[in-house]
Amino acid sequence: MSEKISEKTYNKLLSDQQDEITAHYLYHKIADFVKDKENKEIIRQVAEDELKHYNQLKEITGKELKPERFKIFLFNYYISVAKDYNFKKRFGEMAAISLGVAGISFLIGVLIKQFIGVDI
Ligand SMILES: [Fe+2]
Repeated sequence: MSEKISEKTYNKLLSDQQDEITAHYLYHKIADFVKDKENKEIIRQVAEDELKHYNQLKEITGKELKPERFKIFLFNYYISVAKDYNFKKRFGEMAAISLGVAGISFLIGVLIKQFIGVDI
């Protein structure tokens, strides 16, 4: 680590570097699903740009990083689910889950405010 960079800045650069290599991997995965050759090439170029950004940050941090497995897992899961169902059905499920979580969160907030007297 360079002596001129604070620990906070260094950690931010590492985080950005991690995002760049993850984006590089994900853009390549997305390109694999795009049928139009021109669009596929554009997305692959974006993936290569992300790799350049990763390498620029690597020169500063001096660290080799791998893509974030959890984000890749989520992406792969989403693709596998999305390929089996149509968009309307998948959108309806996502909307129902989102509203359910929002409703439960609201209910918990109301209960906490009512019984404990904490204003959230
Ligand atoms: Fe980037």
